[in-house]
Amino acid sequence: MKQRIHIQEPLLQQIGKLADAESVRAFVVGGFVRDEILGKQVKDIDIVVVGNGIEFGQKVARALERSNLVVFENFGTAMLQLDEWKLEFVGARKESYKKESRKPIVAVGTLEDDLSRRDFTVNAIAASLLAEDFGTIIDPFDGRLDLEAKILKTPLDPVVTFDDDPLRIMRAFRFASQLGFTVEPSVLEAAAKMSSRLKIISQERISDEFLKIIASPQPSVGMKLMYDAGVMEIVFPEVAQLAGVDQRQDYHHKDVFLHTLKVVDNICESTDNVWLRMAALLHDIAKPRTKAFKEGIGWTFHGHEELGARMVKQIFKRMKLPFEHIKFVEKLVRLHLRPMALVDGEVTDSAVRRLLFEAGEEIDDLMKLCRADITSKNPRLVEQVRKNYDLVIKKMGEVEEKDRLRNWQPPVKGEEIMQVCGLEPGRSVGLLKDEITEAILDGRIPNEHDAALEYLLKIKDEVLQRVV
Ligand code: CTP
Repeated sequence: MKQRIHIQEPLLQQIGKLADAESVRAFVVGGFVRDEILGKQVKDIDIVVVGNGIEFGQKVARALERSNLVVFENFGTAMLQLDEWKLEFVGARKESYKKESRKPIVAVGTLEDDLSRRDFTVNAIAASLLAEDFGTIIDPFDGRLDLEAKILKTPLDPVVTFDDDPLRIMRAFRFASQLGFTVEPSVLEAAAKMSSRLKIISQERISDEFLKIIASPQPSVGMKLMYDAGVMEIVFPEVAQLAGVDQRQDYHHKDVFLHTLKVVDNICESTDNVWLRMAALLHDIAKPRTKAFKEGIGWTFHGHEELGARMVKQIFKRMKLPFEHIKFVEKLVRLHLRPMALVDGEVTDSAVRRLLFEAGEEIDDLMKLCRADITSKNPRLVEQVRKNYDLVIKKMGEVEEKDRLRNWQPPVKGEEIMQVCGLEPGRSVGLLKDEITEAILDGRIPNEHDAALEYLLKIKDEVLQRVV
């Protein structure tokens, strides 16, 4: 019996009618069909026609009275953005990509040829768009069975599939993480064997897949697979080097890599922000470089938060990640130990005030990171730390309400300092401003203009003498 999927989308029926009128065999394939079967809505639709994909795309655009068809002659594809829908047209082909280059050989093939050259069986299911069998499924590689079994297999020998496009190695780990699927052992084996071929793939495409792993519900799934296949070593050596680094177990896992993965999974429960997740991934990134053994204490990692923060920029550069997020990640890595120091020690107003001042707008994200950083397996310890942690949050609320320290500026501004002290712009103005800030953060004077001005008058001569 023929199997069908129920395609609700009228746009696809319209395209099907057009294909009928033009006597073109057209099918929807890939992610759209996979996600329809999984009951998910997607807005990207890949359409394969037996024949010329670009020509069919042009006919569809004309029929829908759209002039925004973008043609990629080199790849034999055409793309049409229709409101929230993104349609991509391609002709069925025998071979996907030429070795060692991204230049495709556009050899015309049958639908089955085309499906066989796709990445995974779950992405190699087609559904007809023709009126006579609208929605009928063509599934020569039993992709539906694999969808049910939640497993990633390749339509051909995985070595051939990965050889066609090595980025698929990353895609395997990404889909495993995104969909919660396992990867067939022979596919994992091929991924490990061919991992070095990723070097021919552009950094942008690799990072795009990596970010999708970070954005998935449980990134540790994809990252463990990356590590086991030797791919982490190539794509993200700093993360791979966390493995095998022992640390004391008090709040943490013994191994820094496993601890880090747990922190990333933990933070996913409280945020979808990939950059906060990235900060969780990088929070201990400098531990291997700062590790030292201290008699009577054990392993220490002094300064790893500072060195880690300094590593962020070079990692973003190498991985071609968007620079606008560097400062945020740096800040969280730099400050990640600070809330815990408060949790462990005495929670004084001035310590809380200082942290609020330094973290600024990022304080809530920093607290999320800090909470995620507790990965001890001892439930009593976790409970204890969480309780203290809630105490710190409460205290922060109180101090914040009193002092309004988020994005705070000292109540006496540079202009006024210059006027009162008869100064030109320069280093002394900054120094005086810092002294006032310190006095407020320490709680020696209240966070108010008059008190700050009085304090300025008191200290100015002594401070200015220091500058000379
Ligand atoms: N494809 C492939 N090899 C690749 C990339 C894509 O075989 N390296 C095929 C797959 O059949 C895939 C389809 O092209 O389903 C569409 O690719 P893409 O839009 O990148 O992936 P989706 O499966 O749609 O998933 P997502 O949108 O989540 O990326």
